[in-house]
Amino acid sequence: MVVTTQQLIQWKQQGRPIVVLTAWDYAIAQLIDAAGVDVILVGDSLGMVALGYQTTLPVTLDEILHHASSVRRGVKQALVVCDLPFLSYQESPQQAIHSAGRVLKETGAQAVKMEGGYPAMVETIARVVQAGIPVMGHVGLTPQSVHQLGYRQQGKTPETAEKILQEAIALEQAGAFAMLLEHIPSDLGLQITQKLSIPTIGIGAGVHCDGQVLVTADLLGLSERQPPFAKSYANLRETITQAVQNYGSEVRSRQFPDSPQP
Ligand code: KIV
Repeated sequence: MVVTTQQLIQWKQQGRPIVVLTAWDYAIAQLIDAAGVDVILVGDSLGMVALGYQTTLPVTLDEILHHASSVRRGVKQALVVCDLPFLSYQESPQQAIHSAGRVLKETGAQAVKMEGGYPAMVETIARVVQAGIPVMGHVGLTPQSVHQLGYRQQGKTPETAEKILQEAIALEQAGAFAMLLEHIPSDLGLQITQKLSIPTIGIGAGVHCDGQVLVTADLLGLSERQPPFAKSYANLRETITQAVQNYGSEVRSRQFPDSPQP
């Protein structure tokens, strides 16, 4: 079954949790799609995971298009959502429609994600949705604003919690099909999840969200550093290091190749 944006809303109504992971290339996308993930996000975290940047800010639209195309070729079932990178949508609704349109036309991804809320992003998201492009919102900690927010938990005071709640409501009204909630208190995650009819996808936003997302490099234990709310289900840094060291020592001791080559 191919996952659609409408399906996600039905799953929220049925109380069926939504499983979301990021991907940055064909190989990872193929594996996580075949393993049954519902939504694959080509997150701009690929800047840190795959391109060696310190933050997501340097990621360009061309880099995202290149990676999203390769992810899309590996996916048969999951809904593919692609981040719009920093400065590819903040200047104007026209710029956002153009960038989001390029993502859909050139990569085959079915939706885009944009960070931020009041006031500019609400109007921008409304205009992109009116152009026929599904948009996932993203509120709470928005890493493209790292130099304003840091990587700190957001919504800790009643005033900032209320602002995030109101942004989520406004973005739903603007037409977003889902809302990513990053690094906010669990009770705020619950409140937003109860208030919205579209699904909430949490990362560091507690267990009550309609779905959860992890950066796949964190899940696999590939990341050099990861946020406190991430969980690793494997340690691929160790596995890869061990495999490479085993190969190196077999080459140096002439144990590999182990049979005569034809
Ligand atoms: O870029 C990304 O990977 C994200 C995470 C919050 C999932 O947006």
